[in-house]
Amino acid sequence: MVKKAVIPAAGYGTRFLPATKSSPKEMIPIIDTPVIQYVVEEAVESGITDILMIIGKGKRAIEEHFDRSPILEETLEKKNNLEMLEKIKAISEMANIHFVWQKEMNGLGDAILHAKHHVGNEPFVILLGDTLVQSENGPVTKQLIDVYKQQKGSVIALEEVKPELVSRYGVVDGDAVSENVIRAKNWIEKPSFEEAPSNLAVASRYLFTPEIFSYLETTEPGKNNEIQLTDAMREMVKNHPMFGLKFKGKRYDIGNKLGFLKTNIEFGLNDPEIGDELKGWLKEFAGEL
Ligand code: G1P
Repeated sequence: MVKKAVIPAAGYGTRFLPATKSSPKEMIPIIDTPVIQYVVEEAVESGITDILMIIGKGKRAIEEHFDRSPILEETLEKKNNLEMLEKIKAISEMANIHFVWQKEMNGLGDAILHAKHHVGNEPFVILLGDTLVQSENGPVTKQLIDVYKQQKGSVIALEEVKPELVSRYGVVDGDAVSENVIRAKNWIEKPSFEEAPSNLAVASRYLFTPEIFSYLETTEPGKNNEIQLTDAMREMVKNHPMFGLKFKGKRYDIGNKLGFLKTNIEFGLNDPEIGDELKGWLKEFAGEL
């Protein structure tokens, strides 16, 4: 059973400055809910009960968000806003959430290595805290867990990206096992268009068997002089089975301006409270463009 999740949320968010100067990028709202809350909800819906967040400087708002807020709860109770009171209380009761501090920014691989002690000798999932994934087949993390149960190896969510964009992602080289599952032979972090073995990109959700930690321990700094998770995966795949799952759905990267706006519009259109009004306004507005 996969019960533990790690959510790295230590990165600076330089693509979304100045908003991220003193607020964590993971707290950027999609409509009225911070992106990291959706990420935690995905984990919980996938059967995860224990979450470790890797945070860094300027990220205290994340801790506050998942803590109880007695004064706010009292105020809502006095105002008889019971619906919001329940919503607010539920946030701190979703899962057992723990925090560990990455004291120096040293890459995604280093952030994940901070989870070694907490995770121990179990398979676990990683959900990047600034990215949402949505799929017609239910939570993507749950889909990774299902593939793990069949294949008994690590499983990484993959999305097809435009070939000219491969240099922004980790990319897999592998052979198809079934329509959606690939057995990985190699992983390459941010290859050039010419080097890229495929256009299947690592898409923010991972399931690893615990051996990943011993590979991370010996991984030297790579791209951007940081410890790259993908580099540890490249060594691990030589000795341990690893798979990719081409999930049916979409990834929403919130940590940049355009991604943030598009995601808010798309989610806004599906929101029961504001969806219809937003749609009407959008049509009118688009007509003027
Ligand atoms: C990270 C990973 C990369 C992955 C991407 C999206 O890159 O290093 O392999 O494809 O997330 O999940 P970053 O976006 O932090 O540069």
